[in-house]
Amino acid sequence: MTKQTKRIAVITGDHSLPDPTKREGRYHEEDMVTHAAMVAAFGSLPGYDFRVYTEHAGLFERLAAEPPDVVINFCDTGLFNVPTQELHLPARLELMGVPYTGASPAAMVVCYDKAIVRLVAESLGVPVPREAYMAADAPLNDLPDLYPALIKPNTADGSVGITKDSVVRNRREALDYLGWLRATLPGRDALIQEYLPGPEYGVGMIGNPETGLRMLPPLEVDFSGLPAGLNPILSFESKALPDSPYWTEIKFKRAVLPADIENRLAGWTRILFRRLGLRDYGRFDFRVAADGEPKLMEINPNPAWANDGKLAFMAGFAGIDYRDMLRLVLEAAIARVQRAD
Ligand SMILES: Nc1ncnc2c1ncn2[C@@H]1O[C@H](COP(=O)(O)OP(=O)(O)O)[C@@H](O)[C@H]1O
Ligand SMILES: [Mg+2]
Repeated sequence: MTKQTKRIAVITGDHSLPDPTKREGRYHEEDMVTHAAMVAAFGSLPGYDFRVYTEHAGLFERLAAEPPDVVINFCDTGLFNVPTQELHLPARLELMGVPYTGASPAAMVVCYDKAIVRLVAESLGVPVPREAYMAADAPLNDLPDLYPALIKPNTADGSVGITKDSVVRNRREALDYLGWLRATLPGRDALIQEYLPGPEYGVGMIGNPETGLRMLPPLEVDFSGLPAGLNPILSFESKALPDSPYWTEIKFKRAVLPADIENRLAGWTRILFRRLGLRDYGRFDFRVAADGEPKLMEINPNPAWANDGKLAFMAGFAGIDYRDMLRLVLEAAIARVQRAD
């Protein structure tokens, strides 16, 4: 890639197709608003010619006809909005020889499997919740005694398969939830995890280990507005039910952390970013366990790019506006690719 990188293709989810992570399983006005804000922010960056692709049918033919210098891979829905096909886009771009922002297919595969991420994190000394793996067809007579526990799919994003009832306090509730999960997401293996009752933190990173990796100020999810009795978690209701208090009452704020905890979060996320092969940006979700220790819940390569998403909030805490956050991600990718050339 030359120094005069100019033509940039921004690829997002396909607006015209169903999407299991969206409200009612499809794109709505609110998604168009965040999309328009992203396009406007990129469009205001000088020195680039942006073209936006929101339709996946014929995508690669169109890219081949007008090859971009770099693709902004904001297709976090997966190709044709199929979550397991998120890696197919970067894989195909590699075959075409087109550089792109964000994680490689290999990093995506590993991070999509939460149990594998947990094992890698544990091997690196990063605290993780106690957990049992429940294959989708495993008999349900031998459940682990981790109560209170949180049950979730091993592979999913966007809180799919996590509802207000995911927090279970006894075997009866666990059986009910596993039954619902098996009926709703057939064939999907589940995790039964130690419930982490403490504060929830997001840690965002922009850059790359070789060219400079910056941790943004951590975010805390503010559940204080939730009515009493509702489990304080980011469940699917918070992303899919506009009338739910999970949608209206949960806010993000800057985490106020003792320096030693913030330093430990910084150390853990840096090691994991490098070990799992994240690139350009990433987000790590932690929650504090009953013993006061923050534990890793999951790693998001190519985290949500929306101007109202967690990464944008964290950038804001650092005084980086949305447009500059997008610019930093793009520049991180360009610096990485130029270094490799
Ligand atoms: N072990 C846990 N204890 C408490 N809450 C949890 C736990 N695991 C997940 N959650 C809640 O569920 C949300 C979504 O879980 P997460 O593993 O991050 O999946 P997703 O990929 O859908 O974001 C978290 O943000 C948190 O609020
Ligand atoms: Mg998460």
